[in-house]
Amino acid sequence: MSVGSVIGVIGAGQLGRMLALAGTRLGARFAFYEDVPSSTSQTLGALYHQDQLDAFIDAVDVVTFESENTPVALVDYISARKPVMPNAKALFTAQHRGREKTLFRRLGIETAPFMIVNSLAELQDAVKTIGLPAVLKTTTEGYDGKGQAVLRTVDDIESAWVRIGNRELILEGFVTFARELSIIAARRVAGDVVFYPLVENTHVDGILRLTIAPAVNLTDALTQQAQAAIQSIMTELDYVGILALELFDTPNGLVANEMAPRVHNSGHWSQDGAWTDQFENHCRALLGLPLGDAGMEVPVAAMINLIGDLGDWQSVLKIPHAAVHLYDKAPRAGRKLGHINLTANDRETLQSRIKQIVQ
Ligand SMILES: Nc1ncnc2c1ncn2[C@@H]1O[C@H](COP(=O)(O)OP(=O)(O)O)[C@@H](O)[C@H]1O
Ligand SMILES: [Mg+2]
Repeated sequence: MSVGSVIGVIGAGQLGRMLALAGTRLGARFAFYEDVPSSTSQTLGALYHQDQLDAFIDAVDVVTFESENTPVALVDYISARKPVMPNAKALFTAQHRGREKTLFRRLGIETAPFMIVNSLAELQDAVKTIGLPAVLKTTTEGYDGKGQAVLRTVDDIESAWVRIGNRELILEGFVTFARELSIIAARRVAGDVVFYPLVENTHVDGILRLTIAPAVNLTDALTQQAQAAIQSIMTELDYVGILALELFDTPNGLVANEMAPRVHNSGHWSQDGAWTDQFENHCRALLGLPLGDAGMEVPVAAMINLIGDLGDWQSVLKIPHAAVHLYDKAPRAGRKLGHINLTANDRETLQSRIKQIVQ
């Protein structure tokens, strides 16, 4: 691809915005297509709305998306005229927790036991097979822990069904994990892959709050298991771009939870801690450019999400090795408004910098 290639992004939220910030450095241009106006990216490229889809397709060289809830039919429609990366198959698979776990299992990747249920009676039967505790989730559209319930006793079954049910749900066995990890990788059409280090993620109220890169006490065995898993998924799906895989670290090894067919919040640290950040590598993959080194540029890094309100972000600007990334979104409870990346030469210093920000 040449300088001045236009990357089309379906969606214009913070992920599209950060893709544009990175891709612009490589001389790419951006256009955004959004259904429902929600743009934070409007200053970074042309904005197209629902009735302008064909004009959007005409304007771009390659298309990507920032949400796994992007309609597959939309991607199919665009794919007839312009390449969409990742492809519709990857999107279709990632949109449904049952489909993605079925794929993981077929590839020999460990998952929690799971069953799809469509009624209270089916849920009651599934609990008999899977046992308690268990986690009940919507098969589609869940994010940030929404559309989920933990079932601890049989008394929880009916109320959980009423609260999130009356639709297709998935019941998963409860995984007792020591910590939550994720791995992110980028793949090109040619099939070459780069891996970011395994990171540790801490969630608060179901929303990612903190990522530490790399995770502590990584062994070669853990890294190899995670890399082999994500690589096999990418190969199977003929995947192009950034893919994220969320993992539970258990005494019996890694258990895959879910994947995201897009740049991922647990990779935001890479903007300030990796040689090439995830947004740039996604753009490079789309443009067929050589992938950049996904290794760390600093010994340790962290990402803290700013959720609901920005706090005293101007003071954070004074902290050494802190980078403030704001999305220009209106404050609202539970909404991701920005993040802070921290880097350090050792974990102790990193922890003290984190404590300056997270009380
Ligand atoms: N089967 C499970 N066992 C134990 N904890 C789980 C399980 N599934 C999800 N969780 C917890 O709930 C969080 C959100 O679930 P996840 O499947 O990642 O949904 P979301 O799409 O909302 O991120 C996970 O990060 C993890 O902390
Ligand atoms: Mg998740």
